[in-house]
Amino acid sequence: MSALAQLYQDIVACRDCDLAKGRTKAVPGEGAEDADLFFIGEGPGWHEDQQGRPFVGPAGQFLDQLLASVGLRREEVYIANVIKCRPPQNREPLPAEIQTCRKWLDRQIDLIQPRMIVTLGRHSLSLYFPAESIGKIHGKPRQVDGVIYYPMYHPAAALHQGSLRGTIEMDMLRIPQILAQCKELPQNVLEDRQLSLF
Ligand code: URA
Repeated sequence: MSALAQLYQDIVACRDCDLAKGRTKAVPGEGAEDADLFFIGEGPGWHEDQQGRPFVGPAGQFLDQLLASVGLRREEVYIANVIKCRPPQNREPLPAEIQTCRKWLDRQIDLIQPRMIVTLGRHSLSLYFPAESIGKIHGKPRQVDGVIYYPMYHPAAALHQGSLRGTIEMDMLRIPQILAQCKELPQNVLEDRQLSLF
């Protein structure tokens, strides 16, 4: 069994917080084990809880469209969430739940070693840049320890606030260029400094 498959089993068996009591299925995440691009959403909603898969409801359909706009299918990237179990009534995850669940996301990232982490929405953004606001830094890549972090609005934001749709689409369209540029650079340059080309 691969380390990632073992990790899925551990996540599905996790009872480390009360969200485990209300879930139908835990939603570990899915995608390519060697993905360059790693998307992090917030947490499972109703559809995800039923199916045990991330982003399979309306926000997921929009994410699929966004991926298609840059020639990608979800099987070619990795998609996960900050928390792995659906909160009651889709409420926002509590800080303690995020903290308890973080080990799983960290382990996924360790195993996949993506070049670029795309945070979707403010909960995943605040894992890495707690003092920043999404309105200010969406669409602006940052490099930390050889990984590019790229904050985007959550796809669901476009479903509630139509005016954000174009912004999200534009931010997505920049991803291939950023990824191509970071692949061209030797790893030591990435580790060294903020990239001027961004
Ligand atoms: N919203 C999320 O943040 N994650 C999902 O998996 C689905 C909707």
